[in-house]
Parts: sequence; structure tokens; C-alpha cells
Amino acid sequence: MSVRIAPSVLSADLGRLREQVEQVVAGGAEWIHVDVMDGHFVPNLTFGAPIIRALRRITDRPIDVHLMVQHPEHYLVEYAGAGANVFTFHPEATVHVQRHLAAARDRGMLAGLALNPGTPVAYLEEVVDDLDLVLVMSVNPGYGGQSYLPASTDKIRRVRAVLDRAGSRAALEVDGGITADTIAEAWGAGADTFVAGTAVFGAADPARAVHELRRRCAVLA
Ligand code: DX5
Ligand code: ZN
Repeated sequence: MSVRIAPSVLSADLGRLREQVEQVVAGGAEWIHVDVMDGHFVPNLTFGAPIIRALRRITDRPIDVHLMVQHPEHYLVEYAGAGANVFTFHPEATVHVQRHLAAARDRGMLAGLALNPGTPVAYLEEVVDDLDLVLVMSVNPGYGGQSYLPASTDKIRRVRAVLDRAGSRAALEVDGGITADTIAEAWGAGADTFVAGTAVFGAADPARAVHELRRRCAVLA
């Protein structure tokens, strides 16, 4: 299984967005992760379509959008038009989850569902055929720089089992507190896609930080 690193621009210096993105791409980052927060689903407020459009002009890497917002479906068409490639939302934030997953695919995006630490894995079984990605939150979302919750490792294992049992090829992404010290554990449990904010953009050399994250998985492979 290959490793995919998705640096989160939440922790980037937005005044140097182009330079920061170019650095992580040079370091081998496969995806660019964008954390959209609305001040309701999570307490924090971040960005929306304008930053997706800006990133689209900067890089041809897939833009991995993680919506921590109420009613993510309201943004689906706009984000697809802005250049988003992955559309991931939380099931608690909307009613018609299956419909919105299907709509994301219809718009040419990968459809993802994010599970908070308190959200049961069993949820996935109902929509597994509609999923291109499962995002396991390894912190309670809202802020960068939090610590990886140890219970996430078992949760990743259980998500892996659900996907394998269903014959799903969905990506298994983990988000929150991923560092050179925690990534191997998540990888060993079956995750293949790793969001990292602080560990990449908080480092003196973001390109090297991406490289180091990947190396920590390779040691186990
Ligand atoms: C957390 C966000 C994450 C965040 C991760 O609410 O969903 O994507 O940027 O940041 P770090 O890697 O610093 O935990
Ligand atoms: Zn995220």
C-alpha cells in the first residue's frame, strides 16, 4: 500500500501560500488538505472557495477539502467549480448523507466521510459503496496543533476491517496530531493517507518534514 501525505494549509503562512505549497510539493506531498470551518460545526472559522481557487492556480496536486461545517451540501457545487478534488464532510452536519456523497461524485470529486472521535464506525457500513475516502479524526476537529488521541489507532483498524470486508478501495485518511512520532502507528493500523499541519508547516523545512513523515512509514513497510 502506498503512502499519501496531505499537508494542511491551516498551519501554513498564508502570506506565503504559493511558496509554502511549492515547498511541500517539492517534498513529495501528494495532496493539499484544506480545512473549512464555519464557526458552528466547530468553534473556529477558516476559509472557503477563494482559497480553493487560489490553490488551484498554484498547483495541479489534488485539493483535498475537509468541510467542518453545517450543511456541507450548500458548498458542493461551488467547491467543485473552484477546483476541489476531494469533498469530505461529517455525517452529523447534514441529513441526507448518501445523497450528498453521490452528488460529490456526480460533480467529479471523490466523496469522503469524516468520523469524529465520538462517531461510531458502524455508520460507514450504510454508505460504504458511496465512499471514495474515510477520514478518521484523531483529534476533535477545530484547531491544528492538538495531540493524537491514542484510541484512534484501534478505530483506524476497525475502519480498515469495514472497508476490506466490503471490498472497498476507499482511501483511509487520518487527520489530527500526525507527526513523525505518531504516523507509523496510524500506518500500521491501516491508514494510507495522512493529513499533517503543524508537523509540516511548523517545521523549519516543510519539504524535509513531508519526506520524513513518509520515511517513518517506509520503515514499517
Ligand atoms: C483539525 C483539522 C486538521 C488540522 C490538523 O481540526 O481537521 O486538518 O489542520 O492539524 P495538525 O496536523 O496540526 O494536528
Ligand atoms: Zn482536516
